[in-house]
Amino acid sequence: MSPKHEPIDAAGPDRDPRSADTDAAVEDQGCLAYRFDILRYSAGDSRPPHFQVYELTLDRKASVLEALLTIQDELDPSLAFRSACRGAVCGSCAMAVNGRLQLACRVPLQTIAGRKVVLEPLPGFEILKDLVVNMDEFWRKYERVQPWLHAKLSTVKESLVSPQDQQRIDQFVNCILCGLCYAACPAARRNQQFTGPAALAKLQRFWSDSREDRDLSTVRQEDSTEGLWGCHTIMACCDVCPKEVRPADGIRGLRRRWFAERVKQFLGSRKNRKGQ
Ligand code: SF4
Ligand code: FES
Repeated sequence: MSPKHEPIDAAGPDRDPRSADTDAAVEDQGCLAYRFDILRYSAGDSRPPHFQVYELTLDRKASVLEALLTIQDELDPSLAFRSACRGAVCGSCAMAVNGRLQLACRVPLQTIAGRKVVLEPLPGFEILKDLVVNMDEFWRKYERVQPWLHAKLSTVKESLVSPQDQQRIDQFVNCILCGLCYAACPAARRNQQFTGPAALAKLQRFWSDSREDRDLSTVRQEDSTEGLWGCHTIMACCDVCPKEVRPADGIRGLRRRWFAERVKQFLGSRKNRKGQ
C-alpha cells in the first residue's frame, strides 16, 4: 500500500534572496523566476516520496495550476496531477500549496510570498502518483449518505423551492467535492471510520430540502461517533473550504434536527404507552 502523505511545516517558504534590482527588471515584464519543489512518488516504486525541483519563469498572474501545466508541457511530462475546469468548479486540483490546503487553480503566483512554491498531495490520502491521491475512501463515505433527492416529483409545481428554503441549502449545494475539508479534518485523520465533513454536509443539504421524502435510515446510520458525533468542532473544514460551504454548520444542523427527532419519537412512544 502506498504511503499516506503528511505535509511539511505549514509555514511559508522564505523569500528568494534575489536582488531588488533584478526583481524590478523582471516584474516590469510581468514575469518572475519561480522555484517549484514538488513531491514525487509512484505507487509500487521502491523509492520513497521525495521532492523534485523545477525552475521556470512565469507570469505573476498565472495560477499554481497553470505553472503545473507548463512544467508538464515544457519540462517533465511524467509529472502527475489532477485538473479539469481550471476555474474552481470540478474540485480536482486540491493539494497543499506551501503547506496550505487549496485548489491549485485558485492560487495566483503573485499571492505567494517569496518565489519558492512547495506542492504536496492532499494529506491523509494514499498517494497514487505525485500529486494524485486515492480518493476511494472519500467517495465511499460520500455514497454512504445517499447524496441525492429522495422525492417523487410529478409536477413542476411540486418541485419548486421557496427562496427561503433555497437559502437554507444553498451553502451546501455549492460543495464541489474537492476533499479539502476531509484532508484538513483532524477527526477524520484520527478516526478512519468517520464519515467526514463533506459527506455529512451533503446529508444536511438533502435532508433539509423541502422536497425530500427520505426515511430516517441514512441519518440513523450516522448517529454514532463515526458519523454526526465524530466531529470535534475544530472548524478546520470551514477554514479550508474554497466554496464557503462551512461543513461544520451542516453537522451542527444535523445534530440539532436529529436530536429534535429523537425527542419527538420518545414523546410519541410515551404517549402510546399511556394510551394502552
Ligand atoms: S465542503 Fe468545501 S472543502 Fe469540503 S469537499 Fe465541499 S467544497 Fe471541498
Ligand atoms: S481545475 Fe477544477 S477546481 Fe481546479
